[in-house]
Amino acid sequence: AVTPLASLALGSVAFADQTLSIGDMHSSYNRNIWWMSVAVIVMAILIFIGVSYALFYTVNKFREDKHTAEPDQFHGNNRLETILIVVPVIIVTIITILAARTMAIVNPTPKDALHVNVTGAQFWWAFEYPGSPIQGGTGTVTNGNELVIPAGRQIAITVTAKDVIHAFWAPNLGGQRDAIPGSKKTFQIDTDQPGVYQGNCTLLCGASHANMRFKVVALPEAQYNAFISAAQAYKAPAPATPSEQAGYNIFMQGKASAGAAACASCHRIQGTPAAGAVGPDLSYFGSRNTLGAGRWEGEQAKAMLKPWIKNSAAVKPGSLMPAYEKLSDQDLTDLQAYLDTLKLPAEASYWGKVPVR
Ligand code: CUA
Repeated sequence: AVTPLASLALGSVAFADQTLSIGDMHSSYNRNIWWMSVAVIVMAILIFIGVSYALFYTVNKFREDKHTAEPDQFHGNNRLETILIVVPVIIVTIITILAARTMAIVNPTPKDALHVNVTGAQFWWAFEYPGSPIQGGTGTVTNGNELVIPAGRQIAITVTAKDVIHAFWAPNLGGQRDAIPGSKKTFQIDTDQPGVYQGNCTLLCGASHANMRFKVVALPEAQYNAFISAAQAYKAPAPATPSEQAGYNIFMQGKASAGAAACASCHRIQGTPAAGAVGPDLSYFGSRNTLGAGRWEGEQAKAMLKPWIKNSAAVKPGSLMPAYEKLSDQDLTDLQAYLDTLKLPAEASYWGKVPVR
């Protein structure tokens, strides 16, 4: 999703078969920044050529073998000094105007922007869609570590943090912003191309800073609307098998004999008594493709769920979820069986519908 020239000039990072680059031309934010960069790079190249020319011209013209006599001795050159002041002032003025113009284009939040509140925490992301009331819920759609947006719309991200300073960055979709506890900053991202994009925390925030990732899933508008409607109306299905029921019971009440507290005290599942807000919302966990804030994806994520519940810090350094070492393998199987039932309807799920970019 990146032009070769963009990769060359601005540098891009290959990331698990995805490319992170602000040279991605499918975001109007990045296009604006890119063309401003091109203008500055072109000016820099012209200046480099001019200075190199002057240097080699002077060295060649005043070579010793061409001038046996002592050169003219003089002091000051008003014309040259005026040029040396005026030209840089013009160059800096042009760059200032370009930068101010670009900021004026990319910074204001358009009226029709879709608002998403983003909260960084050690070491995961909460995405909350305000103005999407849910009957019997906490009032908004929330999702952990997977940000679903409509392609072609401006998205106004309001970013904050729970504990320490993090930074939100999906390089292909727009600029980077610090996520600071107690502060709320709004900025934009956008893409005109549906796809799955990579995001990362970009401010050192602790042991699993590098494992504080997220996915941005940009869907065609109709598919996004299907997702958000289903998410608003979502109610977790009742456990249907004895294993799911056992998993449900551990989730809601914990298991005293294994010294395990209820998962529900930290996690929320829409349509159940689980309303914790300490860890990620697990309402449609079964429809997600990642685990541990993007630490694992796909089949790996499924395979890592049991070790994760048993002792998350052993597989993701610094993870704050308590260890549940005494839960039996059967307990973990039951929990996984229950969590797998937490699915959005197929037409509203967002994975596998758009290509990874
Ligand atoms: Cu959060 Cu680095």
